[in-house]
Amino acid sequence: MMRRLLATAAFAFVLACNTLDSRSAAQGVAATPATNSRTGIYDPALDARVDALLRKMTLEEKVGQLVQYSAGQPTGPGTGRTDYEDMIAKGQIGALFNIATAKDTNKYQRLAVEKSRLKIPIVFGLDVIHGFRTTFPVPLALASTWDPPLVEQTARIAAREASATGVRWTFSPMVDIARDARWGRMTEGAGEDPYLGSVMAAAYVRGYQGSRLDAPDSVAATAKHYVGYGAAEAGRDYNTTEISEHTLRQIYLPPFRASVDAGVATIMSAFNTLNGVPTSANPFMLRNILRDEWGFRGVVDSDWESVRELIQHGVAVDRETAALKGFMGGVDMDMASSVYHDHLVGLVRAGKVPEARIDESVRYVLRLKYALGLFEKPYADAARERKAMLRPDAVTLAKTAAERSFVLLKNAPVQGEPLLPLAARAKRIALIGPLADDLPSALGSWPGMGKAEDVAPLHTALAKRVGEQNFVHHKGVGVTGGSDEDLSAAVSAAGSADVVILALGESSQTMTGEAASRAFLGLPGRQQELLEKVVATGKPVVLVLFSGRPLTLPWAFEKVPAVLAVWQPGVQTGPAIVSTLFGESNPSGRLVVSWPRSVGQLPLYYNALNTGRPANKNDLTKPIGPPEDKYVSKYIDESNDPQFPFGYGLSYTNFRYGPVDISGGGLKAAELTKALTDGGKSVLTASADVTNTGPRPGEEVVQLYVRLIGTSMAQPVRSLKGFERVALAAGETKKVAFALKPEAFALWNDRHQWVVEPSKVAVYISADSATGSPALFEISE
Ligand code: BGC
Repeated sequence: MMRRLLATAAFAFVLACNTLDSRSAAQGVAATPATNSRTGIYDPALDARVDALLRKMTLEEKVGQLVQYSAGQPTGPGTGRTDYEDMIAKGQIGALFNIATAKDTNKYQRLAVEKSRLKIPIVFGLDVIHGFRTTFPVPLALASTWDPPLVEQTARIAAREASATGVRWTFSPMVDIARDARWGRMTEGAGEDPYLGSVMAAAYVRGYQGSRLDAPDSVAATAKHYVGYGAAEAGRDYNTTEISEHTLRQIYLPPFRASVDAGVATIMSAFNTLNGVPTSANPFMLRNILRDEWGFRGVVDSDWESVRELIQHGVAVDRETAALKGFMGGVDMDMASSVYHDHLVGLVRAGKVPEARIDESVRYVLRLKYALGLFEKPYADAARERKAMLRPDAVTLAKTAAERSFVLLKNAPVQGEPLLPLAARAKRIALIGPLADDLPSALGSWPGMGKAEDVAPLHTALAKRVGEQNFVHHKGVGVTGGSDEDLSAAVSAAGSADVVILALGESSQTMTGEAASRAFLGLPGRQQELLEKVVATGKPVVLVLFSGRPLTLPWAFEKVPAVLAVWQPGVQTGPAIVSTLFGESNPSGRLVVSWPRSVGQLPLYYNALNTGRPANKNDLTKPIGPPEDKYVSKYIDESNDPQFPFGYGLSYTNFRYGPVDISGGGLKAAELTKALTDGGKSVLTASADVTNTGPRPGEEVVQLYVRLIGTSMAQPVRSLKGFERVALAAGETKKVAFALKPEAFALWNDRHQWVVEPSKVAVYISADSATGSPALFEISE
């Protein structure tokens, strides 16, 4: 057997290279301007066209290009304006959003292109966050696939559908790092890690923007919300953030940098203050870093009324100063608040805003419109729109994406066998719980144009699978509320089944997403009561947990034998869950956020600093473990450890990791620092054998973490620097190798530079952020 494994290992050598270019991963090294000609916004050939048009424009027409309104279902507080048609004909609007049919976009476009003096087309935007009509799993779930090519394909399909209606601009991806599950918008991003977040950000941008931005099925992407929005204090949406430059550079900025390097066409400024300065009037972030350092040449859009909100922040005394500060702070386009429309012309005439600054922003907007090909093809094609939605390849991809996003959190034996996948013994199934047929919740908090009736429900898929005669379905209770009678009926139905599938969790529409922070992260309403009563029947229970974030369910994790986190899975909810429960799909999703035991642990993230008094203080290469002493960094009433660590997820098979092998070495800090700006070359390879020791094929997400010891600034106990999804047949071994570039060992020092310093380096190749034994090597002077 051993010999067979070795032979397999020798043939199956997987070289895991970063999917990002050398500058983009977790770095943001001192910049040369990003020049991604693929998207068109960096195309020098646009300059002449932009300048020629700009010369013809009046000041009023220029300002018009910097004005954006929501013309459909609002996604923020009402603005009270409705006279868009008149304004468009006068050249006073550059962009509209929240309309998404060819009929509506064409109606407004006709006014711009046929009635306005200069015939400059409108660019139409929408929050296409995880699909347009074909709703894919929410972004937190998509990130849990650790499968960037798959995420890229979902974005491609979203672009194909959206563009058919004339929507050529999506306000996605949200690349905010989220370390606090109370924050409802955690669901919209890729979780807590800057490396994974960067890889996912680039995948979305590539998917939306395609190989050419002017292809009719491409849409301009937006990296949002710049920056630090996810660090809202106490997890309360829109709240203040305080982030040191060191942490900004190493944690919060990398996914934005990766988006810029992937050619993202627009950036959205955020709602929050950052170190006292609102991010929608923040010249250090918007001009010094984004423009001067990174060379970004796309449009900076505000968030919904975030320029007007400078008044509420207390940095502007009225709408005029809000316009002045937002614009001079680096926001090119004003979403929804009208303050640019009302005041920019006057501010130029009063000499407070130079016209050259107006020209700069207008250039970015015109450049985007030319790059999208809107001047040549301003209208949507209704015939294409009719055929574009929910095509079979889209629906198939939605099922694969959902299956790969599910994270198997627990799978304990029942009568000697892991409960999942459901074996032949599961003849009579009771499906219980309010999420079993909550179709809007299955869609997630930003379903775009997705409709509840597009969702293949869990109860239908399960009934089909086991046969109506073997299937009972009871809601039991609502997501909130519920009656004693319904609860009792569900519990007695559970008592007569062989296996109970409990579909519990939170509602996506009201409990996740924007303005949906939660102070309590348990099961809402009477669901915990239902859970406990069903478990008390003694029947084997599988908890299928629907949520947009981790929920603190210590009782469930102790008492329920099997728990599958399915997030909010999208249009293929039912079929994807059923294929996973019955084992046709083997779970391979892994957590992209540390799963808390209790709200008191938040914010919680694996890549934390060790502190001077770590709870596990003996071994610097180990993550924080159980408390050993009174005077250590710990709680007196809760563990430091998460319920499940970042990177964690079970499979129906098992994987064994061999020791980490390092080849290369002799690394010198000064040379590596120099190489940071060269890009490209790897300097060291780390590898380990990974074996599928179980009875069935499976996919493992092999993760590489680095820890630096002896550096000038304290560094995290571990930082993800690579990962690879590897398919392994039963008994198969593959050597998984990571080619590491100097960026993997770089840090932002207190002299505001990216450097590699002399240090001891621990490299882990492991199944998650809390296990594995490192290989050690040194970087010398
Ligand atoms: C959200 C953005 C969104 C915008 C437009 C805002 O409230 O913060 O993420 O893109 O609305 O809908």
